Amino acid sequence: MRIPFIAGNWKMFKTVQETVVFVKELGGFVKDVADVEIVVAPPFTSVHSAAVAARNTNIGVAAQDLYWEREGAFTGEVSASMIKEAGAEYVIVGHSERRRLFGDTDRAVNRKAIAAIGAGLTPIVCVGETLEERERDQTLAVLDRQVKDGLDGLTGDQVGEIVVAYEPVWAIGTGRHATAAQAGEAHAHIRKRLGQWFGAGAADRCHVIYGGSVKPENISELIAEPDVDGALVGGASLEVGSFADIVTKSRPAAV
Ligand code: PGA
Repeated sequence: MRIPFIAGNWKMFKTVQETVVFVKELGGFVKDVADVEIVVAPPFTSVHSAAVAARNTNIGVAAQDLYWEREGAFTGEVSASMIKEAGAEYVIVGHSERRRLFGDTDRAVNRKAIAAIGAGLTPIVCVGETLEERERDQTLAVLDRQVKDGLDGLTGDQVGEIVVAYEPVWAIGTGRHATAAQAGEAHAHIRKRLGQWFGAGAADRCHVIYGGSVKPENISELIAEPDVDGALVGGASLEVGSFADIVTKSRPAAV
C-alpha cells in the first residue's frame, strides 16, 4: 500500500551550511520512522550536500525543478541527469510558482516529468487551481487539464511510481489551507482520472499528496482523508522541529 509521503519544499531558502545542519538534525528526529517517506527539496546549490548529509538515513533529497534537455547551450538550466548525479532521487515539477513566475506550461511540465523519469528520478508533479478558477467552479476542469497534459505519454507503470501534488494556488503561503473536505474531493477526483487514463493499478499506487499551508496543526485532519497520501510542505518545512512534527503526525499509527 501507499506509505505516507512528506516532502519539504524549501523554495529559495537555506545555504549549503544551513542545509547540512538541518538534514543532520532531522535525521536524529526521524531515525526510527520507517513508515513515512521523508524528502527535503533544497535549492540546487545544496542538493549535493543534502544528499551527502542524508547518506545512511531515511531522508531522500529532491531538486525543485529541472530542464528537460540532457545537456547543451541552456544557460542557467540544470538537467535531470545532473540532479540525479548530485544525489537527488526526486524532483518537483510544475510548482505553481514556476508556472506563475517563470512561465512553465503544461507542455513544459510534461517534458520535465518525462525527462525526470528518463534519468531515474521520481517527479513530484504539482497541479492546482487558482482562487479565481475555484470561484468560477473550474477546479476539477483545471485539474483534468493539468493532470492529462502533464502526464501525457506516461505508461500506467510510470504513473504508479510518481507523486502528484495537489496544491491549490490560493492555499500556498497564505496560511489558508484547503479543508479536509476540499482536499478529499480534489484528491478523489485526481485518483479517479488516473484510473480512467492510466489504469486501476496506476491509480492505486500513485501517491497523491496535498500542499498549501500544511502545518503541524492541520496535517492530521488532511492526512486522515483516504486519498491524501502525504504533503508537500513549504513554510513549515524550514524549521526542523515543525517538519519533524508533521512527519510524526503522518505515521499510519498516529492517524
Ligand atoms: P506552503 O507552500 O506550505 O508555504 O503553503 C507549499 C508549497 O508551495 O509547496
